[in-house]
Amino acid sequence: MITGKFPNLRLRRTRKYPWSRRLVQENNLSSSDFIYPIFLIEGKNKKQLIKSMPNVYRYTIDKLGGVVESVLKNKIPMVALFPSTPKSKKDNLGSEALNEDNLVCKATRYIKKKFKNNVGIMCDVALDPYTSHGHDGLLKKNYVENDKTIISLCKQSLIQAQMGCDVIAPSDMMDGRIGKIRKFLDRNEYHDVQLLSYAVKYASSFYGPFRDAVGSKKSLKSDKKNYQMDFANSDECLREVALDIKEGADMVMVKPGMPYLDIIKKVKENFKIPVLAYQVSGEYSLIKNGIKKKLIEEEAIIESLMCFKRAGASAIVSYFALEISKKL
Ligand code: PBG
Repeated sequence: MITGKFPNLRLRRTRKYPWSRRLVQENNLSSSDFIYPIFLIEGKNKKQLIKSMPNVYRYTIDKLGGVVESVLKNKIPMVALFPSTPKSKKDNLGSEALNEDNLVCKATRYIKKKFKNNVGIMCDVALDPYTSHGHDGLLKKNYVENDKTIISLCKQSLIQAQMGCDVIAPSDMMDGRIGKIRKFLDRNEYHDVQLLSYAVKYASSFYGPFRDAVGSKKSLKSDKKNYQMDFANSDECLREVALDIKEGADMVMVKPGMPYLDIIKKVKENFKIPVLAYQVSGEYSLIKNGIKKKLIEEEAIIESLMCFKRAGASAIVSYFALEISKKL
C-alpha cells in the first residue's frame, strides 16, 4: 500500500518548476563555449552552399567580414579556418600549405587587420586540404611518412603564426609533432602563439561532409587508419594526451564528439588541461537532417552541445555555434 510517506526521497521535487530546475542545474551552455568553423573559397563575392552540410557555406575572403561580425556580436570567442583549395593548386607534397598567399593565410591577415584581438583565430595544421591524394602528410609507397611530414607541418605552423594566427591546431596525428612545432615557433619568437593539439583524433566515418567541404573526399583513395586512432580503443587516449602535454600543448582536442563522450570524460578526469570537443561534420549533418525531416526536435542541438559540457569539455567546435548562440 502506498502511504503518504512513500517514497521518502522524491527526486522529482526539484524538477517540478523551471526556477527549481534552474537552481540545481549542474552545467550550462553559453556562447563562450564555442568555436565556429568557417570554410573558405577563392574568388569574389561568393557564398557557396556545401551540399552535404545543410546551411553551411564556403565564403570568399571579401565575404568574411559579415560572418566574423556576427561571431563577435554573438560573443563567440574564436573562429577556425578551413580552406577549399582548387584542384589545380593541389600536389603530392601539399605545397600550397606553405604559400603565404593561400586562402587560410589571406583570411587570417584579413580578420586580424579588421577585428584585431577581439576574436581568436585558429588554423588547422595538416596537409590534407592541399595534397592531391587527400592525406594529412607526405606519402612514400602509400604510407604517410611521419618525420618528413613534421618538417612541412613546422613550416606551415610558422607561416600561420606570422600571418597572425592565435591558435595553431595540428590535426594530422603524426607522432612527436607538438614538440617539434612548439620548438620551431619558440625559436622564431612566437612563444605566445597557443598550441591546441588534436591529441585524440579517431579514424572516423563521421568526417565525410567535411572532406566534401574542403574537396579532399574524391581524392582520398584509402582511409587514415594508419595514423588516426582506432575507434575500438580508449586507453590509448591517455598516452596520446600525456605525450602532447609533455611536448607543450596548451589545450587538447577530442574528435569526433558525441560518440566519444567517454573519451572526453576520461581525458578530463586524468589531466587538468582544457579539453575541447569537436562536434564534427557528420554529427552536424545527421542532427540537422533529422530536424529537417521532423524526426527529432530542434532542442536536440542544445542537448547534443550540453552533453559535451557534462562530459567535461571546456569548449566545443561546432557548426551549430552561430545559430545556437543567437538563441542562448
Ligand atoms: C583534417 C581535418 C579533418 C577534420 C578537421 N580537420 C578531416 C580528416 O581528418 O579527414 C574533420 C572535421 C569535420 O568532420 O567536421 N586534418
